[in-house]
Amino acid sequence: MASDHYFSASPSSAEHLRRISVTLAGHSGEVTTAGGVFSPDHVDGGTAVLLSNTPPPPPGGHLLDLGCGYGFFTEKLQGRLHQGAHILGIDLVDRENRRVFLQTVKDIGYEGEFVRSRADIIRSMDESSFDMAIASYSLYFFPHLVGAIARVLSPEGVFIAVTHSKYSLREVTSFVPRCMERMGIVPPGEIMINRLFRAFSLEEGEEMLSPFFGRVERVIYENDLLFPLDRIGECIDYLDKKKHLIFKEVMENHPQKVGDMVSYFNDMVFAYAKEHGRIVLTKDDAVFRCFRPRRRG
Ligand SMILES: C[S@@+](CC[C@H](N)C(=O)[O-])C[C@H]1O[C@@H](n2cnc3c(N)ncnc32)[C@H](O)[C@@H]1O
Repeated sequence: MASDHYFSASPSSAEHLRRISVTLAGHSGEVTTAGGVFSPDHVDGGTAVLLSNTPPPPPGGHLLDLGCGYGFFTEKLQGRLHQGAHILGIDLVDRENRRVFLQTVKDIGYEGEFVRSRADIIRSMDESSFDMAIASYSLYFFPHLVGAIARVLSPEGVFIAVTHSKYSLREVTSFVPRCMERMGIVPPGEIMINRLFRAFSLEEGEEMLSPFFGRVERVIYENDLLFPLDRIGECIDYLDKKKHLIFKEVMENHPQKVGDMVSYFNDMVFAYAKEHGRIVLTKDDAVFRCFRPRRRG
């Protein structure tokens, strides 16, 4: 599967691993992190490095990938699971997700199943149905389900959640309210993309997970995207792929204004890069590894 379809610019600095102290619920410890690597919206090389530097998930036969999309995370589990492991992908959107997810699981040698549904469907599933659950860049869409995820995991089950910093893309999300005003739209106090990033973030995720898991580890993965002025087109392409999130409220409430709004936004990105010679987008991410699920209703 092509892994560079979101973005193909260079990382801002060479990847290097370093040991850092991590937040552990009730424990302290060290893990490996990488700085200066870029992260598109899927588990990329940098996160794969982090995963390969942390202990493997407990071998078990039944996996759940919530908000699975194409199964980018699942792809990274190749060779780490029992032979014959079964991976259930659930996603609100079918489109290409079903086909690509099932193909991905087949390619890595496991059995796959795809269900088009809201993640809330897990509420009707039996307790202890899965050995591992994954929510890669998706839990912020359904943070209310953390308890339900703990419930469907076996007592030895592990939950892995990958998410962004709540400050992700702040350099450009700050342009959105100004664009809205220019289009004659009164901006909300907080735009949807920022609300979404805040719903389950690197900074506050542990607080949300700890009531439902006996042990939570957070692996921080600092990274950003640097676009020099002469590659600003790549920045604009990158942001265009995210326009359904960046301009979510405009798309939903004023679809006729989206075209003008995007072009005004692009002008602002370009003007910023021209003034500073480049633009750097914050993209810090974190992987949460959660053990000892608790039954709390
Ligand atoms: C940013 S993508 C991440 C996809 C994939 N996990 C990955 O890491 O590449 C978020 C995914 O969550 C799905 N999603 C959003 N809300 C959902 C919900 N309530 N229930 C299930 N899936 C949802 C979207 O359709 C999308 O495929």
